[in-house]
Parts: sequence; C-alpha cells; structure tokens
Amino acid sequence: MIRRTLYSGVLSMLAAGLLLSCAAKNDFPGLEYSPQMYHSTPYEPLTQIKDEDQGNWLDSNDEDAHGEFYNSNPYNNFDMTMREPAANTVKRGSYLPYRIPKDSLELAAQLMVNPFDSTAAVLAEGKVLYNSYCIHCHGSKGMGDGTVGKVYKGVTPYNSRAVKDKPGGHIFHVITHGKGRMGAHGSQVSVEDRWKIVRYVQTLQNQ
Ligand code: HEC
Repeated sequence: MIRRTLYSGVLSMLAAGLLLSCAAKNDFPGLEYSPQMYHSTPYEPLTQIKDEDQGNWLDSNDEDAHGEFYNSNPYNNFDMTMREPAANTVKRGSYLPYRIPKDSLELAAQLMVNPFDSTAAVLAEGKVLYNSYCIHCHGSKGMGDGTVGKVYKGVTPYNSRAVKDKPGGHIFHVITHGKGRMGAHGSQVSVEDRWKIVRYVQTLQNQ
C-alpha cells in the first residue's frame, strides 16, 4: 500500500515536471522529434516559408530558432509554390460559367431553360430555399411584404403586371445578377438551387 502511494507520488511529480517544462521558455517548442512529421520535405502548396535562416533550434536563446524549414519553390515567380491558374481557366466537373451579362435580361429570358420540371419534390425544395433567401423581402406569397421588404420598400410583387408573365430564364437571371435595388444572389445560391427557386416563384406569379 505504502509502495503504491510512493509510486503515484513520484509519477505525479514527473507529470508536473513535464507540464512545467513545456511552459518554461517563451515560444521555444523544445526538442522536436521526427521533425519531418511537422515540416514537409516536398513543396507545401499552401505555405510560403521564405526564411532560409533556421537558426539553431536547439538553442532556446536563438531568436531565429523557429524550427521552420525553407519551403518555397525558387524556380517560380516570387518563389510561389502553388501558381495561379492561367486566365479563364474553368474548374473541372459539371460547372459551366454563366456568361450572360447583367444587362442582358431579355437574352436570358429567351435562352435559359429550367432543367427541373415542376414536380412536387422540386417545388418543396424550392419553397425551403425561397424561405431562406427571398421571403424576408418578397414575403410568403411574393407580395413584396416580407419583414425586410416592408422597410426596404419597392419590392415588386410577383403577380404585378410587370412580373407575372416573365419566363423562368428572366427570374433565374434576376436571382443571379440582381436587378435595380435587389442584390445579386449568384454567389450564394447554386445554379440548381436557383432553378428550383424559379419553379417555386412561378407558383406565386399567377395567384
Ligand atoms: C434585400 C431584399 C431582396 C431579397 C433578399 C430578394 N429580393 Fe427580389 N427584389 C427586391 C427588390 C427591391 C426588387 C425590385 C427590383 C427593381 O426593379 O428595382 C426585386 C425584384 C425581384 C423580381 C422581379 C424582377 C423584375 O423583373 O422586375 C424577382 C423575380 C425577384 N426579385 C426574385 C427574387 C428571388 C427569387 C429572391 C431570392 C433568391 C429575391 N428576389 C431576393 C428585393 C429583394
């Protein structure tokens, strides 16, 4: 029994000693075991460590001893490791950039076709998205009387003469680029989600 207490006493003193040694010297991290686990030997795409002077990182008084390794690519401009893609590069996958400019509303109305049919599932999703992104200005029935819309003013009702006959491509374009006092939502809402919102808005145009 006494032996066990002795053991645990010694153990806790050791543990306290270890903890204290961590906090001992400003930001000197202590000895790094297997440093290549912390500092990659290959070029790191997301770091630009240019400082070649590693100092003596075993010496806690050496100011340069930050233990980082030089890891930039000297063969690239500005020693960059990851280079910027060439201009007009399109990312891989199904993404296609939307190239119709903001002021070409009529063109969008003619060209853009909704890939989704007006099914119950699409309308249900469209409603959820509408309630996240549009309802506060446009209101639950699209009358322009949302809590923000009432204060913001000038939110056109969907069933107004100006909007009720506008085709899906027109609505898609307005969501993407904004119109007049309405801001653009293209950066926040994916292309698919925008088309689902369009289906839902169309149910509010003719009521
Ligand atoms: C910050 C408030 C606000 C939000 C959020 C907002 N709108 Fe608008 N919206 C407006 C205003 C204001 C107008 C009137 C624009 C104008 O013509 O000056 C408008 C106009 C419209 C029009 C009619 C465009 C036309 O041809 O006159 C449509 C369609 C529309 N919004 C759809 C949406 C949809 C869909 C969303 C959600 C993705 C949305 N809006 C989010 C404020 C908003």
